[in-house]
Amino acid sequence: MKICYDNCEQPKYGLTFEGAFHGRTLGTLSLNRSKSVHRRDFPELSGIHDVPHSMAGVERLREKLDPDHGHIPPEQVAFLILEPVQGEGGYQIPEPEFMRAVNDLCDEHDIPLIADEIQSGVGRTGEMWASDHFDFEPDVITSAKALRVGATISSADIFPEEKSRISSTWGAGDILSSIQGTLTVAAIREHDLLSHATQAGERFLGQLEDLQESHPETVVDVRGLGLMTAVEFDTKDRREAVVDAALQRGLLTLGCGQKTLRLLPPLDVRERELDIAVDLLDDAIDHVES
Ligand SMILES: Cc1ncc(COP(=O)(O)O)c(C=O)c1O
Repeated sequence: MKICYDNCEQPKYGLTFEGAFHGRTLGTLSLNRSKSVHRRDFPELSGIHDVPHSMAGVERLREKLDPDHGHIPPEQVAFLILEPVQGEGGYQIPEPEFMRAVNDLCDEHDIPLIADEIQSGVGRTGEMWASDHFDFEPDVITSAKALRVGATISSADIFPEEKSRISSTWGAGDILSSIQGTLTVAAIREHDLLSHATQAGERFLGQLEDLQESHPETVVDVRGLGLMTAVEFDTKDRREAVVDAALQRGLLTLGCGQKTLRLLPPLDVRERELDIAVDLLDDAIDHVES
């Protein structure tokens, strides 16, 4: 965000999507549109506008940015931020047209795009960045989690030239975690883990689709991109009960969105482990249903 604010001559606005989650640091809270618990009663950054995470949302944005009829001057927009696959918001995998439309709109108005790849990046979707699945060219990419260290990547065009403008001293990222990050990327390349995540993810999603067929009353959707996979239930209570029952059986999952359960196997997961996961989840759902 600071890279983009610094790049903009009159930084007044930032754009975000409904369902977004960009972390718990004070600045990013203002971008969040998922759970209220993160934002409640904390001060807000001014000028953050949100629109629905859909083609209708992009249309609304187009109207807001229209130089003749809109109310947001595009030259005062420092950035548009999005998660290429929404994480906390419920593992929402966008349509390619949506991503293309966002990309084109930002291009048209010269608005820098931030891809928050903290959850979706570093191979989890079968590409190094989830953005790579789409016609989508971010100017800034945030990374962490699977990288084992936080890293912000920016095109040279917009990165501040002034020394010490955006750096921090103790925001983690010591030598050990930097080495972990470097070795993680090296291992992904060496063991071709992107292809593995794609193949394993496709197979796993097929198994989850079978799971949905055997629980038609309670499982309302399954979806995934690579190994970023999710099962949506009919109610939040059911989801919570399944997360608990799965944990009792040895399968660690996590809720996201209103009533979705996410599964995020490691990139080197074996078929056998995925089979076990599906059996445990099936058993957990049976238990909750009965
Ligand atoms: C998409 C996304 N962005 C950013 C973050 C960073 O969160 P935090 O500020 O809590 O480290 C997360 C962590 O869950 C995330 O999923």
